[in-house]
Amino acid sequence: LVLSTFQSSSRNVDYAAVELDGSVHVVSGHVVSGHVEVGDGLEFGSDVDDEAFKAAMRVLAAGVVMVTTWFEGRPWGLTISSCCSVTVEPPQILISLRSSSVSCREINRGRRFGVSILGARQKPLAELGAAVGVAKFIDDYCNDQEALRSPMIEGALYHLDCSVASTHSVGDHSVIIGRVLNVVFAPRGATDRDPLLYFDRSFWTVGRQL
Ligand SMILES: Cc1cc2nc3c(=O)[nH]c(=O)nc-3n(C[C@H](O)[C@H](O)[C@H](O)COP(=O)(O)O)c2cc1C
Repeated sequence: LVLSTFQSSSRNVDYAAVELDGSVHVVSGHVVSGHVEVGDGLEFGSDVDDEAFKAAMRVLAAGVVMVTTWFEGRPWGLTISSCCSVTVEPPQILISLRSSSVSCREINRGRRFGVSILGARQKPLAELGAAVGVAKFIDDYCNDQEALRSPMIEGALYHLDCSVASTHSVGDHSVIIGRVLNVVFAPRGATDRDPLLYFDRSFWTVGRQL
C-alpha cells in the first residue's frame, strides 16, 4: 500500500512511503499511477546509512544523567543521555543501556538503580562515567544517603531512586523501565542549577531562554 510519494529534486528518482507487513518503509524507484516500480537502487528504511543516523542524533541536544548502582559493594556510575519520563501515575522513567555493560548487568541483578541528573559543574564526573573500558567506581562523588537504595551523586540537580519495573531487550541495548521510589532535591544556589547538556559531541549548558 503506497501511503505517499515525493520526488527528489536533485536525483531523477521518486520516493514513496509504503506499508509492508504492518510497518512503513521508504523506498526509491519510480511511481507510476500510484504504484511503485522499484528502480535499481531499492532503498528500504532499514538500510539507512549509519553515519547519517548518527549525524542526525548528534544534533538532538540532551540532558546528561549518571545511572548509579552497586558493584562489588561500592557505588558505580555510567553516563547516559537516553533517559526520559514515561508516566506520572505511577512515576516511571526509561533508560537505555548497552546490555553487556556492568551497569546493566548489576541493575538487572539488584533490581535497583538511581538516576542523578547532572549539573554543568559535573562535567568531569560525566567524562569519567563515559570513559570506555575503565572502572567507574564513584565513591568519591557520592552523598551518604542511607535511606536511598541507590548511590546519589553529591551536588546533582536531582536524584531519582528507582526499582526495576521491567526490562526490554532491543538489539544490543536493554530498555529499562524504572519505578521512581524517591525524588531527592538538593537545594543549592541559583547559579549551581545549570544543567549539563550534550550536543554535537560536546558538553554544554543552557544559553538563553527563547
Ligand atoms: C553524553 C553521553 C551519553 C551517553 N548515553 C548513553 C546511553 O544512553 N546508553 C548507553 O548505553 N551508553 C551511553 N553513552 C556511552 C557510555 O557512557 C559508554 O559507552 C560507557 O561509558 C562505556 O563504558 P564501558 O566500556 O565500561 O561499558 C553515553 C556517553 C556519553 C558521553
